[in-house]
Parts: sequence; C-alpha cells; structure tokens
Amino acid sequence: MPDRNSIIEKREAEKEKDKVVVLDFGGQYSHLIVRRCRELGVYTELLPYDMPLEELKKGIEAEEGTGKIKGIILSGSPFSVHEPNSPKCSSEILDLNVPILGICYGAQLIAYVKGGVVGEGRKSEFGRTELLFDDSDLFDGLTERGSEGGRINVWMSHGDVIERLASADIIGYTMNSPVAAFRISNIYGVQFHPEVHHTDKGEKILWNFLYKICGCERNWTIESFVRDKIKEIKSAVGSDGRVICGLSGGIDSSTTALLINKAIGDRLTCIFVDNGLLRKGEKEEVINTFRNNFKMRLVFVDAKERFLKGLQGVKDAEAKRMVIGELFINIFEEEAKKLGNVDFLAQGTIYPDRIESARARSGDVASRIKSHHNVGALPEKLGLKLIEPINDLYKDEVREVAKELDMPSQILNQHPFPGPGLAARVIGEVTEDKLRICREASYIVEEELKRSGWYNKVWQAFAIVGDDVTTGVLGDARSLGRIVTIRVVESREAMTADFVKLPYELLESMSKRITNEVKGVTWVTYAISSKPPATIEPC
Ligand code: XMP
Repeated sequence: MPDRNSIIEKREAEKEKDKVVVLDFGGQYSHLIVRRCRELGVYTELLPYDMPLEELKKGIEAEEGTGKIKGIILSGSPFSVHEPNSPKCSSEILDLNVPILGICYGAQLIAYVKGGVVGEGRKSEFGRTELLFDDSDLFDGLTERGSEGGRINVWMSHGDVIERLASADIIGYTMNSPVAAFRISNIYGVQFHPEVHHTDKGEKILWNFLYKICGCERNWTIESFVRDKIKEIKSAVGSDGRVICGLSGGIDSSTTALLINKAIGDRLTCIFVDNGLLRKGEKEEVINTFRNNFKMRLVFVDAKERFLKGLQGVKDAEAKRMVIGELFINIFEEEAKKLGNVDFLAQGTIYPDRIESARARSGDVASRIKSHHNVGALPEKLGLKLIEPINDLYKDEVREVAKELDMPSQILNQHPFPGPGLAARVIGEVTEDKLRICREASYIVEEELKRSGWYNKVWQAFAIVGDDVTTGVLGDARSLGRIVTIRVVESREAMTADFVKLPYELLESMSKRITNEVKGVTWVTYAISSKPPATIEPC
C-alpha cells in the first residue's frame, strides 16, 4: 500500500486536480479501480487505507479546482472484517460529507461499521452471478425505461457475505447475497466488482458514481495531461533552468525526455549510457531517434568495458543488479559534472513504481522480491532537484502520451526491458559470449514473433542463457553447446503472467534459427512456468 508521507509531501508540493481517491485495502483489483475511473475521465489516486482522517478532510473541504476530493472508493481486500489484523480505516470517514462507494470488502466494512451482520465464509460466491437490482442513482440507465429494476450479470469474488444491514436501502441481491448492493444516504456498497470487465455495464455503474453521485467533472484526458504537464515543467524549470535526463530508450524515459524537450527545448540534455547490456540494434535506434529525428541534445557514453569488468565473476542476480546500479550512478554523476550548470534531474518514474517503492520503504516484504534497478540515490548525490513528469501515469497511459508526442512505433510498441538489461537474462556470470548468445537469440525470438503477427499480442519475449552445456552434433562430430531458453509471456501489468501457448511451428522455427544462426547453441527450450511462482525474468 502506498506510503502516506510521500503522498502528503507530493500533495503539498503540487497544485492538484480534483479527484476521487481509492483507499487501498490490498485487494487484487485496487489498481484496476483507479484505471477504470481514469478511463472514464476522472483523475483518481490510490491511497493507503489508513490515510489520516485529517488529510482526507482537508481534501474534501478544499476549493473546487485545488485538489478537492469529490468521492472515496473503498477497495476489496483478501481479509475478512472479522480478522483481528484486517485493515480498517477510521469509521469517521463514513461521517464525512462526501460520497463513498465500498466495493466487496469495502462494502462489508461499511456494513460492519454500520451495525450490519457480515456472515463468515458460509455462502461465498466466485465468478459470474446474476444480480437483481432496484432503481437507484448507482444503477441509473441500466434498467429498461419505466421499469423499477432489472438484472445483470456481475463478477463476484468473496468469502464473507453481508447478511443484514438494517440502516440501509437494499438495492441489489443475488442468490447467495441478500445485500449485494445497498445505499445509506450518499454511501453505497456493492458486493460485486464493477471494475472487472466480466461485470455487465460495470463501467456505467462507475460512471454513475463519479459523475451523477460525486458530481465530478471530466478532468483526465491524455491531451489535457500533455498540455498541463508542459506548462507545469516550464514553470518548474523557469526561464533558464537546465535539466539532465538518463535515457534508456524504454518508453518511460523516452516519454519523459520528449515531454521535457517540448517544454524547454535544448535546455534538456539526455545522457544515454551503453552498458553493453542493450538489445541488438538498440544503441543505433536511440541515437537516431533522439539526435537525428527529434534533434535533441544527447550525450552518448560507451561504457561497455566498464560494465563487463564490473560484472566479472559476479554470479548472484542481486549482486549483479547492485553492480549495474552503482556503475550507472557513477557514470551518470561523471557526465553530469562534465556538463556542469545543471539544476534538475528528470526521471521516468511511473505510478506503479511510486506505489511499489513506497511499499518497499514501509517494509512490505512482498514488494522486494527483486530490487529493481533504480537510481533513487541520484538526485541527492548530485544535489539536483527532481522532475518526474509521468509519475501519475500507468504504463498504458504513458503509451498514450507517447503517441500524442509522435513517438516512433519502434519505441512505442516495444516490449518492456529491465533496467539491468540482458544481465537479467544471463544466468550466472555475465560474459561477452553469453551476452552475444542472449542478444542474438532474443533478436531472433522477437523477429519471428513480428513476422508471424504475435509480437503485439504478448507482453514480453526474449531468450535466456546460462552455463549449462549439452551435447549436439555439428557435421559428423559431437560438440558441446549452450542451452537457450525462450520465454514468451502474456500479462496485464506484470504482477502475474502466464506463458504464451505459441504454435509449435513457430517455436520450431525459432529453435531452428537459433541453433543455426547463433554460434555455440545446441539446445533450445521453452519456459512454461507462470508468475507466480516464477518471475518473468530469470534473474
Ligand atoms: P519480474 O521478473 O519481477 O518482472 O516478474 C516484472 C517486470 O519488471 C521487469 N523487470 C525489471 N525492470 N529493473 C527494471 O527496470 C529490473 O531490475 C527488473 N526486473 C524485472 C520485467 O522485465 C517485467 O516486465
């Protein structure tokens, strides 16, 4: 769950948009609720469930147009309200003068606080269920004209059931949930998940809450984001401030650089470090796009040797990440010093990164499975002020912004690539030879996917190489070669992933090409593990 302090600091630092806030009780769909509301045109933020009441009050009482909180959504949770350590917000939230929508656990929590009976795990419902509902603002437009109620299929995922809630109007029920939707004045609760596509007209239900019940105005479109952001950057940097930005060629740093370039032109200098862990052709692509196409100032640093040397003998995945992170910081620091006269450092932090690092800071172990390559120490080290223009955006929103800024399709549509680059895909020590195999084989995997129309349908695709060798026959002689593992996964936000059931013919042509074209490979395998328990990258 996001860290309170960072959010409070952010709030004080920026003039904000009016918003709806989602209090996060740890439910699997919390981020999805935020994204759905934004898709409907309302700026929405995810806040921790234990956000101080005073903070919320301040937002609710704020003037329109200054970050006013127009509504609160209570998310789902894996907990039961009866568990002693279950997350609970202050019950006084229900007395604030603001519309509230509780979803699943959120609805159960409202019912519990309002004296209702929440039955423990006796009549759980999972999957699609028919909801019978009465006319109400929340279900407005869902019924046939003139009828008093209707039925829709909704997505349920709950163990506990609200059995009675005397203080509420019951506006919906299912076979197993006598109180599947309720209303107490401007507080609503739904046991089902309107944010999930499997709920018929779920979008309309959320629309009703945002626009009809909370009275929100449409304030979140990509065009307005770009316009406002450029203005904001101009005023933050001032008329003679200078900015540097570490450019990796990925969508986040590329979009950050383009936005800042639009705002302040060549007072932005991008620093692009070739760490020797880049994909095939990536260096040329980045230089060509930013220097030649967008005519931006770009400092190119060839640091291949330094990284390879630093990684010599390092086998452990976490240790490799540390070496890479540290070297990057050192090189960046050197280049920034050479440039001199710099005031700001731009970073392509996105919304999920912010939430994840806040979770990590608060000691949530689940988020520290891999220490993602991050340069969090840089601004302090360099004594620079930080600009993070896309730190309110989800990945798909970043893509929309990039499109708006005419980002070339090669960068726009490429798969995510980890900060430690190919080192995340070379198991054990990173050597020049293993890097060559990983780079060439990955290129073949991507090329074959593009050729067959699969590239844009999958989340990530690459090759992995380790130290194991297997026997092969080369001509008439037996020879030893490495094993290359192909990993192709589908995912929405990388939190979970599944391997893609590619046609055998496609896997076969990848395998043939890899053993024929990449010297030193004898076997090719396909990774068929899902996340969890596996992760997407092997190290
Ligand atoms: P995992 O391997 O943790 O990856 O399932 C989830 C997503 O994050 C990317 N990834 C990284 N990105 N630095 C990054 O910037 C890293 O150290 C890192 N490790 C994994 C990965 O490619 C996938 O999209």
